[in-house]
Amino acid sequence: MAKRSKKSAPAPWVGVIMGSRSDLAVMQGALDTLRELGIPHEARVVSAHRTPDWMAEYAKAAEGRGLEVLVAAAGGAAHLPGMVASHTLVPVLGVPIPATALGGLDALLSIVQMPGGVPVGTLAIGRPGAINAALLSAEIVSLRHPEVRERLRRLRAARAREILGAREI
Ligand code: RP5
Repeated sequence: MAKRSKKSAPAPWVGVIMGSRSDLAVMQGALDTLRELGIPHEARVVSAHRTPDWMAEYAKAAEGRGLEVLVAAAGGAAHLPGMVASHTLVPVLGVPIPATALGGLDALLSIVQMPGGVPVGTLAIGRPGAINAALLSAEIVSLRHPEVRERLRRLRAARAREILGAREI
C-alpha cells in the first residue's frame, strides 16, 4: 500500500482557551481572525474552577511548547485569565464573556482588576474583545514573525478601503 504523507499542523504560536464550550460563540471571532491572518493557533476548553489542575498544567507547559501569547476568555467570576497568568510568563490577554445576568460587566471587572504584580491585558466585553485579542496577539507575534506585521498592514488597508468605498449613506 502506498504511504500517505501525513501533513502535521504547525506548532501553535497562540493558545486560545475558554472556561466553557458555551464561550465559543463569542470566541469564534478570535479564531476566525487568527485563521484569516494565517497564525498557527489552538483552541481548548480550560476551566479555572472546574478543571484547576488541567488549567495549571496547560499554563505551565505554554512556554516550553513555544506558545507566544495566551488568549483566555471567561464569563462570570472570570478568574481564568488571572490564574493562568500566575503560572506563566507568556503574555495573557483576557476576554470578558457576557455569560450572566450582569452582561459581562462582572467578567470585565474581574479580569481587569488584577492586583499589581501579575498582569493580564484586558480586552472589551464579547465579540469585539475576542477579535481584538486576536489582532493584539498578531501584533505580539509579529515581533518575532515579521510576515505577520505585513498581513496586519494589508488587513487594515483593506478595512479602510471598505469604509472609504461605502462612505455615502
Ligand atoms: C465560565 O462560566 C465560563 O467561561 C462561561 O462563560 C460561564 C458559564 O459556563 P457554562 O455554565 O455555560 O459551562 O466559567
